[in-house]
Amino acid sequence: KDLVFSGVQPTGNLHLGNYLGAIVNFVKLQSRCECIYCVVDLHAITVWQEPAELRKSIREVAAAFIAAGIDPKAHIVFNQSQVPEHAELAWVFNCVARLGWMNRMTQFKEKAGKDRENASLGLYAYPSLMAADILVYRATHVPIGEDQKQHLELTRDIAQKFNNDFKTDIEAAGFADGLFFPMAEPLITGPATRVMSLRDGTKKMSKSDPSDYSRINLADDADTIAQKIKKAKTDPEPLPSEEKGLEGRPEADNLVGIYAALAGTTPAAVLSEYGGGQFSTFKGALIDLAVAKLGPIGAEMKRLTSDASYIDGILADGSARARVLASETMRHVKEIVGFVGK
Ligand code: TYM
Repeated sequence: KDLVFSGVQPTGNLHLGNYLGAIVNFVKLQSRCECIYCVVDLHAITVWQEPAELRKSIREVAAAFIAAGIDPKAHIVFNQSQVPEHAELAWVFNCVARLGWMNRMTQFKEKAGKDRENASLGLYAYPSLMAADILVYRATHVPIGEDQKQHLELTRDIAQKFNNDFKTDIEAAGFADGLFFPMAEPLITGPATRVMSLRDGTKKMSKSDPSDYSRINLADDADTIAQKIKKAKTDPEPLPSEEKGLEGRPEADNLVGIYAALAGTTPAAVLSEYGGGQFSTFKGALIDLAVAKLGPIGAEMKRLTSDASYIDGILADGSARARVLASETMRHVKEIVGFVGK
């Protein structure tokens, strides 16, 4: 059976991009795969997090998973810091990954900005920890948005180099084909793998954009969602009737993609209904759809986070189950690498 792993950072402002690019697909995969979904708190602290805010955000991401429809009994929902094997394997991977590989990571360049000397060492090593998250479960499939694609390529490079470097000892440990770590595949699916800012169709929708009007947060109420869509940037032309008419119109393209993803249809189908019409009509329909789909999730998140002990119980149960799997992998890794112990 395929084993799915994915993670979301608890850094506040969980938004429509996280939902349509990742969480919707997490929910869908449950029916045919074994799934492990992680709140990656170790990744969050690569940039400064106020401890009280971090606690709140960890519970909020877990609540969003459950509110969106992830079943924490049938699958595993937990937070990364409670399974120390992630950090343990990341250290081994820090010694497998090459500086040249890390230097190519575009997300580090974006996040570190101009003041690179002042970025944390953790931010630089971030993709190595991400590889460890996936491979400590020897996961085969990873649902993610477009922006994480490069990190998945690095994960495969690390897996391949580990398998090559330790080939003899991997075989001696009983993995006859020499394939200890799988080549984990990214699953980048749906019409909204890269949701853009509502204020600028050329910029990614992001948690850290200073303008709250640039994104729809999962915790937004109906009025806020409506306001943000009403104010969303558009161009003066009516919507085209065919997809190729969206080329060079990033804002229109983005809103049509969002509609298609929320409705579970394709951009072509959306345009066959709204093409030729004014933006105001389309925006009205998008508001109704977004409120209908996101409203109940926001309300359920609020209900779930009002009782921290409920969420904490789910995370503790998930962490214990994850740890059983992760410690099994680490036992093999230690043997393969040549560490002595039992
Ligand atoms: P994070 O927390 O930034 O985002 C969580 C997920 O949401 C997707 N996403 C988007 N999708 C479409 N449009 C957008 N505007 C948008 N913004 C974010 C992301 O691609 C991601 O799938 N490094 C990861 C977290 C992580 C992880 C992992 C993921 C840590 N370990 C292991 C998979 C496997 C991150 O920062 O995601």
